[in-house]
Amino acid sequence: MDMLIILFLLTSAALPLASPDPNDEACLTHVSQTLKDPLKNLQNWTKPNFANPCNGFTSYLPGATCNNGRIYKLALTNLSLQGSISPFLSNCTNLQSLDLSSNSISGPIPQELQYLLNLAVLNLSSNRLEGVIPPQITLCAYLNVIDLHDNLLTGQIPQQLGFLSRLSAFDVSYNKLSGPIPASLGNRSGNRPSFNVTSFEGNKDLYGYPLPPMKSKGLSVLAIVGIGLGSGLASLVLSFTGVCIWLKIRDEKMAAEEGKMSNPMPDY
Ligand SMILES: *[C@@H]1O[C@H](CO)[C@@H](O)[C@H](O)[C@H]1NC(C)=O
Ligand SMILES: *[C@@H]1O[C@H](CO)[C@@H](O)[C@H](O)[C@H]1NC(C)=O
Ligand SMILES: *[C@@H]1O[C@H](CO)[C@@H](O)[C@H](O)[C@H]1NC(C)=O
Ligand SMILES: *[C@@H]1O[C@H](CO)[C@@H](O)[C@H](O)[C@H]1NC(C)=O
Ligand SMILES: *[C@@H]1O[C@H](CO)[C@@H](O)[C@H](O)[C@H]1NC(C)=O
Ligand SMILES: *[C@@H]1O[C@H](CO)[C@@H](O)[C@H](O)[C@H]1NC(C)=O
Repeated sequence: MDMLIILFLLTSAALPLASPDPNDEACLTHVSQTLKDPLKNLQNWTKPNFANPCNGFTSYLPGATCNNGRIYKLALTNLSLQGSISPFLSNCTNLQSLDLSSNSISGPIPQELQYLLNLAVLNLSSNRLEGVIPPQITLCAYLNVIDLHDNLLTGQIPQQLGFLSRLSAFDVSYNKLSGPIPASLGNRSGNRPSFNVTSFEGNKDLYGYPLPPMKSKGLSVLAIVGIGLGSGLASLVLSFTGVCIWLKIRDEKMAAEEGKMSNPMPDY
């Protein structure tokens, strides 16, 4: 009798580990559907190819790491992935680390990432992501790494990002961002880490500290105008002297001719 109860307790305790989490299933299935995967790394991510994406602490899906029966880390870097990031990624509600860096993923960064309340690491660098940086990701209060460098992102940097108190790495360099760098990121107050020029460079229309002042751009425009005016003036002066020299030579020739004519008649 006692043995049976213990056996029952053991099996029921083991059950939650054995049954797949429906949110994780929805997450992986959708994510693998919107990503194009020429090297077939994600071929087992769609039901019924997997029985359970997480069995305790392990996952047999490449790139997925589990903790306590839930996906907690996705690392799919340098796998030649194309396509876009599914908004259903937010169904992986226990996700702490998302690294899709160094692929060819396009489309927007889904604002649904805001539902990943445990997210600490977001690395989407070196892809072809377009559109704005969704300000909603500020709701992921534990974010400490945001690396979006080397994409095609446009618009302004949301100043709310600077209010993430744990943010220790931030890189949006080499995108198409514009507008001012929020002081909340470029010149942070208190003892929060500040981000230097390497976090912001390579965005043509982005300005403000810590980037070098735009004045240099204004100066170079002036310099170009100056060079234009200067060379215009120089060519004017040159052609004027040319004409003068030509006139002078002609005058001298004529004078010489006149001299020859008058020579045969000496005055004395
Ligand atoms: C997944 O995310 C969608 C959209 O955010 C939501 O409607 C759905 O309830 C979530 N869960 C599952 C299991 O699909
Ligand atoms: C997918 O699963 C099958 C069968 O379990 C296995 O043979 C194959 O290696 C897996 N593919 C990948 C890319 O993990
Ligand atoms: C990316 O993967 C390719 C092969 O698929 C490999 O040659 C290259 O070294 C990898 N790059 C990095 C930075 O890991
Ligand atoms: C993001 O991923 C890239 C490429 O895998 C790596 O070089 C970079 O260090 C990562 N960023 C951070 C902040 O760890
Ligand atoms: C940075 O912030 C400090 C104090 O908040 C301010 O005095 C300083 O002028 C700021 N520097 C720049 C370059 O904006
Ligand atoms: C910018 O900061 C990074 C790390 O925070 C550091 O490695 C790098 O040397 C700094 N670059 C400059 C130009 O200060």
